[in-house]
Amino acid sequence: ATTLGAAAAQSGRYFGTAIAGGRLNDSTYSTIAGREFNMITAENEMKPDATEPNQNQFNFSAGDQIYNWATQRGLKVRGHTLAWHAQQPPWMERMSGSALRSAMINHINGVMAHYKGKLAAWDVVNEAFNEDGSRRQSNLQGTGNDWIEVAFRTARAADPSTKLCYNDYNIENWSYGKTQGVYRMIQDFKSRGVPIDCVGLQTHFTGGSSLPSNFQTTLSSFAALGVDVALTEVDVTNASTTQYAGLTQACLNVPRCIGITVWGVRDSDSWRSNENPLLFDGGGNKKAAYTSVLNAL
Ligand code: XIL
Repeated sequence: ATTLGAAAAQSGRYFGTAIAGGRLNDSTYSTIAGREFNMITAENEMKPDATEPNQNQFNFSAGDQIYNWATQRGLKVRGHTLAWHAQQPPWMERMSGSALRSAMINHINGVMAHYKGKLAAWDVVNEAFNEDGSRRQSNLQGTGNDWIEVAFRTARAADPSTKLCYNDYNIENWSYGKTQGVYRMIQDFKSRGVPIDCVGLQTHFTGGSSLPSNFQTTLSSFAALGVDVALTEVDVTNASTTQYAGLTQACLNVPRCIGITVWGVRDSDSWRSNENPLLFDGGGNKKAAYTSVLNAL
């Protein structure tokens, strides 16, 4: 295969990227994105501040631009994200308690109704844990410890056709407190029948040249709970070829690791652009890390 998407498809997986709607009229950008990837995540356009800028007034124009661009090219789309402490609209940031709980439920219902039957997966809840494995304090957590399962139950009822994922960063190292905290939550959800289908490991790697310890064990351990796993926002400091090849191989070694998404197209498109963490340079040229991933797929 000569593209990342086609190479991943050889094992039934996908290879995706995050798309920024404002860059789609850059032809170098859209040409690479449409050629190499077969799964698309909106980098910001389906987040709560974008989709519900005023309470109960939904706006899907930016999200739909990306959705339409992707589906016109036969690419699938992951939804990102419904409930998160960050990138809330100002009205939501100011809320708490039962009013916020109701607003969260209304937000999930409103956004999922718009995209009903259209998305491969939704990151229902994003980044709800502290580094030590305890729950992150946020206005959402303040509504009660059951807010995450309420979000998932609401999401399942709103659109039974899409996969429901919990997504977080720094859950790649199996020995890490946060990984264990998320693992215990997924285990608890599965044991009590709370609807959850997948865990997204953001996979923002910083520094070093080797993978976090027991990365593949983390993937296989989550999978053993009965959920799919995916690498959802991959970027790697200086695009270390060993780390890119290693994370790709780890996913391929785990049957329920269903795909890999890099968080942007070119280094210049990255939220970490000073670290040159992606597979294409600012000129749109394939980097050594691109070849290391393609060869590993
Ligand atoms: C980032 C985007 O890339 C930036 O453009 C934006 O300013 C902030 O958010 N974890 C996530 C992503 O789940 O949504 C974040 O994306 C990066 C960290």
